[in-house]
Amino acid sequence: MNKALQAMAVSAALMLFPVTASAQGSATTQAINSLERSALLPSRNMLDLGKNVAARACSDCHGIDGKSTAPGLPNLAGQRTVYLYRVLQAYQTRTRRIDSMNHATGFLNDEALLAVSAYYASLIPARPEPTEGGEPVQIEMDGADPFAGIRDDMKKCVKCHGEDGNSSASGMPNLSAQDAEYFVESMQAYVDGGRNHKLMAKLAAGLSEETLYRMGVFYAVQEPVRTATMGDGNVDLGKELAGPCASCHGDDGNASGADMPTLAGQDARYFSKAMLAYKTGKRNHEQMYGAVEFLSEADIENLAAFYASQEPVRRNVRAPLTTSEWIERCERCHGAGGNSTDPRFPMLAGQDRNYLASALQAYISKTRGNSTMHAMSTPLSESDIERIVEFFAASEPKAVVYIELPCEEPIDQ
Ligand code: HEC
Ligand code: HEC
Ligand code: HEC
Ligand code: HEC
Repeated sequence: MNKALQAMAVSAALMLFPVTASAQGSATTQAINSLERSALLPSRNMLDLGKNVAARACSDCHGIDGKSTAPGLPNLAGQRTVYLYRVLQAYQTRTRRIDSMNHATGFLNDEALLAVSAYYASLIPARPEPTEGGEPVQIEMDGADPFAGIRDDMKKCVKCHGEDGNSSASGMPNLSAQDAEYFVESMQAYVDGGRNHKLMAKLAAGLSEETLYRMGVFYAVQEPVRTATMGDGNVDLGKELAGPCASCHGDDGNASGADMPTLAGQDARYFSKAMLAYKTGKRNHEQMYGAVEFLSEADIENLAAFYASQEPVRRNVRAPLTTSEWIERCERCHGAGGNSTDPRFPMLAGQDRNYLASALQAYISKTRGNSTMHAMSTPLSESDIERIVEFFAASEPKAVVYIELPCEEPIDQ
């Protein structure tokens, strides 16, 4: 085969199997294709059988028109045949455990499962329901601020820690060079008494762990700025004393461990206060007590000056995705607007919103097992889930469009 032909063969294969073209995938793909083909032009008999099964065993919950009869139940109309068929098999074998569905599929044979799948797939999908109030919710997607949910809580921090965690007031720690993990741990230490500071304890106590983590990420993705509070210590003497600290805090005070504070560019007054707190046991920490035990106050001041003079480096923490960026990810598998074109991925467009939300929660908690979806849904915040669900539930579902590639035998010209 010459190069041009090879390239054509590859692109033809990609048209057929847009997502996986792995060797192991090809057996699966063939299975999908033969099934899809029988469902592509289902015989009248098959659809009648499917409708029969639906009327007897499914319509109470999923409607004879494939439209969910109560919030939380999935719409089935227009869902992809192969997806339905596989899901039904998963219920039948109890790989997916839901009593009502395990029961409903328990006594059906394979032919009935395929027929009822083809039947529901052949129906026109339900139009998306507006929300309770009657009006579809307008969700702001473009340029959505991934930190929108924490902006209000963070207003309280600006006075002392600056807009971006680069404190302007002397004695206040810079937060912008710390990892989110250390941030959360230090906030929790104020609450559980590991660190002693009444105001910080009060502020931190009112914040959920998720909020704290998001705040930590917010500060970690800001550009850190070196403090203006350099202290009176001697930088060169401080540098000599800093040798033993490097293994944990980095040569120049830029720590790499997520639970390890960066010291580079840190406010010198705060630094000295923290060191003294370790020394006196007010801030209880074994490793740091060992590091500071034999240092004099002058040593501490010199160390403070050395670290304050170092340039802080931004942490390797990625800004969270905006809702629209998340949706783009989902669409890579579930199709534009949630109209899947790949039979392995369920259509999300126009799906019941309660069902979508509970499906995502089930993937997060692993009560519904799927490693891809577990990985996709775990990082989502509650407000991400709300907006993503709203987006797909309100998206116009489209019936399956089959595109057949030209057959291999040339048709008579
Ligand atoms: C008593 C109510 C009930 C009956 C009857 C019922 N179902 Fe369901 N069905 C459910 C519930 C509840 C779920 C959601 C379960 C979950 O979260 O996994 C569901 C889920 C499904 C799903 C998964 C949808 C998806 O998008 O993954 C399919 C497919 C399905 N049902 C098909 C059927 C078929 C076909 C029948 C008849 C043979 C049937 N159901 C009978 C309640 C019912
Ligand atoms: C009135 C000033 C003030 C306000 C307001 C304030 N902080 Fe603080 N913050 C401090 C001081 C002072 C410390 C050092 C306390 C100590 O010695 O442990 C501190 C320490 C911290 C630390 C530990 C830093 C480190 O390097 O270990 C974090 C994290 C923090 N604050 C976050 C916040 C957040 C988030 C808010 C807003 C919810 C906030 N602070 C509001 C003054 C303030
Ligand atoms: C074995 C590892 C280790 C060594 C060595 C070490 N530290 Fe630490 N250091 C830590 C850990 C862990 C923390 C966070 C402790 C906590 O949560 O209070 C910390 C915290 C600190 C803090 C408080 C930072 C803040 O933002 O509140 C300062 C200051 C500090 N170290 C300075 C030093 C200096 C100076 C040395 C060397 C003399 C040193 N450390 C040696 C592990 C170490
Ligand atoms: C790499 C491909 C892939 C990506 C990306 C992906 N999904 Fe999925 N998704 C799947 C597969 C495969 C299933 C079917 C899993 C199963 O059988 O439980 C699924 C199932 C679902 C379901 C259950 C639908 C139903 O009818 O039961 C929901 C809801 C869902 N995905 C939402 C999302 C959202 C939201 C995103 C983006 C944050 C996303 N998915 C990204 C592959 C993907």
